Amino acid sequence: MEISAVKNSYKRWAPVYDKTFGAITRIGRRKAVEYINAHQGRVLEIGVGTGLSLPHYKTHLEITGIDVSSDMLDKAREKVADLKLQHVVELREMDARFLDFPDNHFDTVVAMYLVSVVPEPEKVVAEMARVCKPGGSVLIINHFKREKGVLAIFERIFAPLSNVLGWHSDFDMNRVLGANKLEVAERKSFPPLKMFTFLLQKKAS
Ligand SMILES: C[S@@+](CC[C@H](N)C(=O)[O-])C[C@H]1O[C@@H](n2cnc3c(N)ncnc32)[C@H](O)[C@@H]1O
Repeated sequence: MEISAVKNSYKRWAPVYDKTFGAITRIGRRKAVEYINAHQGRVLEIGVGTGLSLPHYKTHLEITGIDVSSDMLDKAREKVADLKLQHVVELREMDARFLDFPDNHFDTVVAMYLVSVVPEPEKVVAEMARVCKPGGSVLIINHFKREKGVLAIFERIFAPLSNVLGWHSDFDMNRVLGANKLEVAERKSFPPLKMFTFLLQKKAS
């Protein structure tokens, strides 16, 4: 998907996102935030969207969020202002393929429901690895394609609609594995229908 298609798609999604896709993907966001809250330091959320996760981070963390869609970011900024989320230190419009942060800067870098949306996901994960400190965590929450079963058939049916939906329904997990210095530490599926995956990679020290 081209970046212009991503922006157009999320311009349409922004007003309704929290009550639609945002609502059905709540479990994954909760699992990611639970993991992150149990750790310390600086957190970078890539593709922060409307900021649904932001009110749930504990205040000992320092949260930075980036997204390529100004329409989604406007919604996140409203939440930060309304709820006075002082631990959200920065929300910036930025393309995840070209992160404007130094190497080894964040303790945790997280992407929820992003990797099947971005053009060049391999480049995004390489950037996530670059800005993550040695010993830090790169966490991905996403739907990945299945090889068999009824859901695999649906995934293939919806695949050509990626520009309309705003994401790829048949995204292969291998595309986000094996970035420089990242090793898989945990991988588990969760509801609904084990459709989504919690994929934790650690950066070698
Ligand atoms: C499905 S939404 C997920 C939003 C949020 N992470 C959540 O859990 O609700 C995908 C988000 O990724 C953003 N995105 C897509 N491509 C991007 C890119 N190259 N760089 C930064 N953000 C991107 C979209 O604008 C959108 O806000």
